[in-house]
Amino acid sequence: MQSPSAYPTFRFRRLRQTSVLRKLVKETRLSMDDFILPIFVEEGIEQPVAIPSMTGVVRYPETQLAEVVQRVWRAGVKAIILFGVSTHKDEDGSDTWSENGLLARMIRIAKAAVPEMLVISDNCFCEYTTHGHCGVIHSCGNTVDVDNDLTLINLQKQVVASAKAGVDMIAPSGMQDGMIAAIREALDAAGYRHIPVMSYSTKFASAFYGPFRDAVDSTFKGTRDTYQMDPANGREALAESLLDEAEGADILMVKPGIAYLDVLANIRAHSSRPLAVYQVSGEYAMIKAGAAAGVIDEKAIVLESLQAFKRAGADLIITYYAEQMAEWLTA
Ligand code: PBG
Ligand code: ZN
Repeated sequence: MQSPSAYPTFRFRRLRQTSVLRKLVKETRLSMDDFILPIFVEEGIEQPVAIPSMTGVVRYPETQLAEVVQRVWRAGVKAIILFGVSTHKDEDGSDTWSENGLLARMIRIAKAAVPEMLVISDNCFCEYTTHGHCGVIHSCGNTVDVDNDLTLINLQKQVVASAKAGVDMIAPSGMQDGMIAAIREALDAAGYRHIPVMSYSTKFASAFYGPFRDAVDSTFKGTRDTYQMDPANGREALAESLLDEAEGADILMVKPGIAYLDVLANIRAHSSRPLAVYQVSGEYAMIKAGAAAGVIDEKAIVLESLQAFKRAGADLIITYYAEQMAEWLTA
């Protein structure tokens, strides 16, 4: 007979005995209300084109966008974010603010297909510029860089065009300084005070975007290190999001996801804004590759990863698994 002091003073296992009990004390839950599905649309194609680095993700022709939006809505997806792959590229990305440009057309098609669908525009220039940078470039010697303030002027035109086309939410992803203030000012001046802005507020210059660059067929060569964040910096990561909050961002975001849970948790602790996370193409591709190699259980890994985002403080999750999750959550 051992003395009582040798026993655990508290037994966590008391609440782990049955599935009902474990679920009763579960701290985070996933639901279809959490997810935003990215959709790629390419100009000038007739049939969907597979993206080799992202198994199961395709670029759709514009003529199929309406059906796709209806299909995913029926599956349970309630929010989408639109990415265009333009064949009308120029130095400035002027197609993005043209009333009949790809971005405006995608928004109109998606809203007309399912008016209840929350349609978000990814507002940037990289898929619409010949050089592939996220804005207007200037050259200085042999260094090419994005001109911050000239880019903001074009971004203002772009977001007003998106609003005119009927978008429900603006999501600027270009990581230019002052972009939220510039966007808010332009939207308000044009009479779109009610349209929310979800900022890609803390976006890292990440190798996890590799497969996405395949997806959008980017002609881009070089880096975005002068505008996206250094993955090494945690304090700056918080400051980036807090400044966007101060400029009027309605929703903040961390991108990528799984390697940046500390950043999510830190922003959550310092801001009361809703917080989004983007599970990016490289995260998706790694899970798919691991599953295809038979070394991980795809569904279990996805559920665990998405749950980790919520545990760390995310409210909204942008994921290429959004449509698949509808099936997994009901199964
Ligand atoms: C560029 C943009 C990127 C992604 C979406 N928009 C990253 C980049 O090329 O720097 C990444 C999405 C993903 O990897 O899933 N504005
Ligand atoms: Zn961009």
